[in-house]
Amino acid sequence: MEITNVMEYEKIAKEKLPKMVYDYYASGAEDQWTLQENRNAFSRILFRPRILIDVSKIDVSTTVLGFNISMPIMVAPTAMQKMAHPDGELATARATSAAGTIMTLSSWATCSVEEVASTGPGIRFFQLYVYKDRNVVRQLVKRAEEAGFKAIALTVDTPRLGRRESDIKNRFALPRGLTLKNFEGLDLGKIDKTNDSGLASYVAGQVDQSLSWKDIKWLQSITSLPILVKGVITAEDARIAVEYGAAGIIVSNHGARQLDYVPATIMALEEVVKAVEGRLPVFLDGGVRRGTDVFKALALGASGVFVGRPSLFSLAANGEAGVRKMLQMLRDEFELTMALSGCRSLREITRNHIKTDWDFPHYLPAKL
Ligand code: FNR
Repeated sequence: MEITNVMEYEKIAKEKLPKMVYDYYASGAEDQWTLQENRNAFSRILFRPRILIDVSKIDVSTTVLGFNISMPIMVAPTAMQKMAHPDGELATARATSAAGTIMTLSSWATCSVEEVASTGPGIRFFQLYVYKDRNVVRQLVKRAEEAGFKAIALTVDTPRLGRRESDIKNRFALPRGLTLKNFEGLDLGKIDKTNDSGLASYVAGQVDQSLSWKDIKWLQSITSLPILVKGVITAEDARIAVEYGAAGIIVSNHGARQLDYVPATIMALEEVVKAVEGRLPVFLDGGVRRGTDVFKALALGASGVFVGRPSLFSLAANGEAGVRKMLQMLRDEFELTMALSGCRSLREITRNHIKTDWDFPHYLPAKL
């Protein structure tokens, strides 16, 4: 059957993938309240479209950290993509550059920064987990820089791994033959089976729980790449990120996989945008599945969005072609949303083009 929206890939992925892999990709933390809320909150934002505007030409292109990209839709870092498809991150890299947008490569990729770079030209960011062994971090950041990655997305919401119960039940571990390729030479490439989620044990052993704001300065001292702080969801932290010289903020709750009962990112976005007062760009990830979601995020002040699970599920379903189609569908829906709202360029998207349930609590039925 023809695929007509991004969400349909999840069902195909579920049928194709081993249960342990599908569960790892799909699940959120604990009650998965935030997981549902990341989607539900978008449905509480409605449009205030403007009519009779000449929308015969629509430009969805934009600039991120000075790089021109085809659309404000980018690919979030998601770990271990070879579990989804044998081509793994290489397919995602090819599809993302074909779409003219940015891929963020996870620290925990099953392809190395060098392998991803060898797929050809493309603007790519590198997502960083800070290990206790800072020499490991130094080497990794240097390799990413040398491989032509253009920014570091520093993940700040993971001092410990969130409790994802299916990973515990499934005793999640990396399937045989796969490694965390960036760490292979450092003897940190394996995720072994434990009496828990193997990944949670790995994180407890390797990731630096003492990471704090001063380490942003340290990171700036070892790299000249711009640093995006990924995982900010409060105005307080947004202000500190500005103070510490972040190049941008990604409003993210890690796809609802870390602390459960944090708000949907689309609910947290506006307070972060207001707090930074235009001093740096703010991006969003979490639950983006439709072009209308992209528009809503931009109307609330985001400079762009990232998608996580849609790239994994489309990769699992159909490799590079799947990821290409996923990005194309989001782009087409977004462009259509702009046309139907009377916006011809991203600059024309404003807060007045939407209405939220926090603007008008009585406007929407209580139960949604
Ligand atoms: C992630 N995410 C993530 N984030 C990160 O900084 N480093 C990582 O290695 C991973 N790995 C990862 C694996 C899987 C399976 C998922 C689903 C997510 C979080 C990711 O970057 C992003 O924040 C969310 O995926 C966005 O939410 P959606 O689009 O999946 O709803």
